[in-house]
Amino acid sequence: MTNTTLPPRPTLFDFHGVSMTKYFTDNWENIQSFKARPDDILIATYPKAGTTWVSYILDLLYFGEADCRSSVPLQERVPFLEISEPSRPKGKDLADQLPTAPRLIKTHLPVQFVPKSFWEQRSRIVYVARNAKDSAVSYFHFGRMNRVLPEPGDWSCFLQNFMQGKVVFGSWYEHVNTWWDQKQTYSNLHYMFYEDLIEDSGQEISRLCSFLGLSPTAEQRELVQAKVTFDNMKQNKVTNFSTVPMMNQSVSPFMRKGRVGDWKNHFTVSQNEQFEEDFKNKMKNTALVFRNEI
Ligand code: PPS
Repeated sequence: MTNTTLPPRPTLFDFHGVSMTKYFTDNWENIQSFKARPDDILIATYPKAGTTWVSYILDLLYFGEADCRSSVPLQERVPFLEISEPSRPKGKDLADQLPTAPRLIKTHLPVQFVPKSFWEQRSRIVYVARNAKDSAVSYFHFGRMNRVLPEPGDWSCFLQNFMQGKVVFGSWYEHVNTWWDQKQTYSNLHYMFYEDLIEDSGQEISRLCSFLGLSPTAEQRELVQAKVTFDNMKQNKVTNFSTVPMMNQSVSPFMRKGRVGDWKNHFTVSQNEQFEEDFKNKMKNTALVFRNEI
């Protein structure tokens, strides 16, 4: 697709109480009837929480970099379940056709929208959460470069929309909280944080391995850790989304900063005060703790 043939930006609408666009609801019946398997692994996140990072870690832990896979983009190895964009295979179909066992599948769906077969089959789920301020900044830049999303407007307009949940996949606050609540009753859910991965990726990989029952050798672990650094993933065509026509990486690269605390370069003092106040209010009933800096 050239720039001139790219479809217009989609508009946001209310979908069962969550802001969505057609690219994530068009294939709804098929998504809802997706047949999960007991060994499937669902990687669930609010957008921009480190989905690609954790997807690549799991892909390498399970399958390494066999020659036949080494040039297959991550978005085909780990399909995005609910995506249905023009001139591209639907995520649900890619997931159905995955030849691997386990199948690794990515979703940004709020917990109440996850196809029921994942719960019935007791598939394992890895949920990754990232602090709200960095999530908002990363999502803003992603909206600028990705035509699958509505125009984000300027930063202050986007931030207001983010706080009100008027962005695709809805409210960050509801997403992280309802998935956290789910973890209390669904034992096959591993809830992890982007900030912990930045601080000590080795420890987080160990935790993932124990959740998944994997015992990589020291050599395999070192290889995974080396391959999943930000710089290596930014250079790697498999992981940097450089083959996706809807993304204009010259506006903002998919692998943008990869840091904790970039929000400080975006929030004004008054935006920060307003955000903090609103955050306290929205998060007052949760035990979840986020780190805005490390
Ligand atoms: S998406 O589109 O929602 O699936 O995006 P997602 O992969 O969840 O998040 C993208 C952000 O994660 C950062 N990223 C990383 N940070 C550190 N190390 C590694 N290896 C890494 N891989 C991806 C990526 O840069 C995006 O964050 P920002 O803050 O925009 O840089």
